[in-house]
Amino acid sequence: MAWAADLLQWYHSSARDLPWRSDLTPYRTWISEIMLQQTQVDTVLPYFERWMARFPNIAALAEADEQDVLNLWEGLGYYSRARNLHKAARIVHAELDDKLPNTPEALEKLPGIGAYTAAAIASIAFGKNVATVDGNIRRVFSRIYNLTEPLRSPESERMIWTLAEENLPNGEASAYNQALMDLGAMICTPKSPNCDHCPIQADCQARALGVQEERPVKPPRKKTPHLTVTAAIIRRDGRVLLSKRPAGLLGGLWEFPGGTKEKSDPDLPACLQREIRAGLGV
Ligand code: ADE
Repeated sequence: MAWAADLLQWYHSSARDLPWRSDLTPYRTWISEIMLQQTQVDTVLPYFERWMARFPNIAALAEADEQDVLNLWEGLGYYSRARNLHKAARIVHAELDDKLPNTPEALEKLPGIGAYTAAAIASIAFGKNVATVDGNIRRVFSRIYNLTEPLRSPESERMIWTLAEENLPNGEASAYNQALMDLGAMICTPKSPNCDHCPIQADCQARALGVQEERPVKPPRKKTPHLTVTAAIIRRDGRVLLSKRPAGLLGGLWEFPGGTKEKSDPDLPACLQREIRAGLGV
């Protein structure tokens, strides 16, 4: 399709100057892709620089304490990303001579690397001819092709991955994937997309119909769970008791001991006693 050539031309003249692009290594690509999941570029930049100063390579990350890794991640959220990075670095250090694998299939075997990240690393760091799909790219394709399937449904995923692959210009996967990401972040934004400045506006079906703001079609919203949670500040001799959360939500982080009220708890003090006994054995 003509749009892919126009998109590449735009990317070659307007690509954002980002530290993982100007100094490109597989390790830097990997760290940036994990940090950029669910997180905007501006937020990631200072974390990325601090990370590279503290853990300049895979060996340094593998040899670090998990707590140091989590401390450096503090504020970025989704902490399982940091724990998985650390676990994966230990595997690559112990078993792969400090070298990240260069195919999506092998990359996906590492903790924390899913289909998106595997294809992103393989294309950007190793020049492999593979397309990838993230949230920005889903939105861009939903608009170019005026897709009406709700986002994230199996049908929608099949369509978007197929379109991404079919339009990939041979040998240009790194620029193509990142151009789609940049277009989604800078022009084809969720609200008020800047269609007048879009390099592929002429090929955008949603724009032609004036429905760009209604694409992508969102999946049905999950109900937000409401929980009653309590915690105790327990002091003795000027010290405060903290406990480390198990794997899962905010896993590995420190908190005041406590937990979620169950129906069987008559009140919050009873809930506290049960949670602290169960969690800490005291
Ligand atoms: N978001 C995720 N990966 C990215 C990349 N390589 N460049 C810009 N934005 C991104």
